[in-house]
Amino acid sequence: MEFEKLIAERRSIRKYAEGVSIDKNDIEKIIASAQMAPSWKNSQTGRYYVALSPEKIKEVRAALPEFNQNNSLNAAALIVTAFEKGTAGFMPDGTQVNELGDMWGAYDLGLQNAYFVLKTRELGYDTLIMGIRDEKALKAAFDIKDSEQIAAVLALGKRAAEPNAPARKEISDIAVFK
Ligand SMILES: Cc1cc2nc3c(=O)[nH]c(=O)nc-3n(C[C@H](O)[C@H](O)[C@H](O)COP(=O)(O)O)c2cc1C
Repeated sequence: MEFEKLIAERRSIRKYAEGVSIDKNDIEKIIASAQMAPSWKNSQTGRYYVALSPEKIKEVRAALPEFNQNNSLNAAALIVTAFEKGTAGFMPDGTQVNELGDMWGAYDLGLQNAYFVLKTRELGYDTLIMGIRDEKALKAAFDIKDSEQIAAVLALGKRAAEPNAPARKEISDIAVFK
């Protein structure tokens, strides 16, 4: 798919069609694309915990506030994204390279997640990135180690209706040229 079209079509979807499923193979393809994103010293610290079975999806949904439970109803998969702490932004001896520290891990995961949502759209599916979630419950659902920082939960399914496209700021509001 042409890149500009892909970007335009990708939207945050908060209403998913019933009865949609996705193969593990397709999710592996999406994660492989996400991993092609640049990362700090190619450290690739992003991690993906994929709820595909109805039982696991139910457990992960329970870790979301009610509005995000509603937003992700009928999702074919829920993916908990995380990153290994203490690597991106750190020297091999563990010292921080600069003031951002583990924020570089979050930066790298965000880049990966951007690739993730675009690749998902290319395969004909939709996503919602959900940053409002219960970290403890998600850690327990997948037995995630304390050495990892959980970030967003990604809902993946197929849109039940065409969404609105929220407006973007003007370039002059966000960029400085000298
Ligand atoms: C880090 C992050 C966290 C978000 N958390 C939520 C969320 O918890 N619930 C939700 O409905 N949308 C969430 N969103 C979706 C944004 O509201 C959405 O991307 C934004 O309104 C722009 O709409 P668009 O994605 O359709 O372009 C999140 C997006 C990002 C990038």
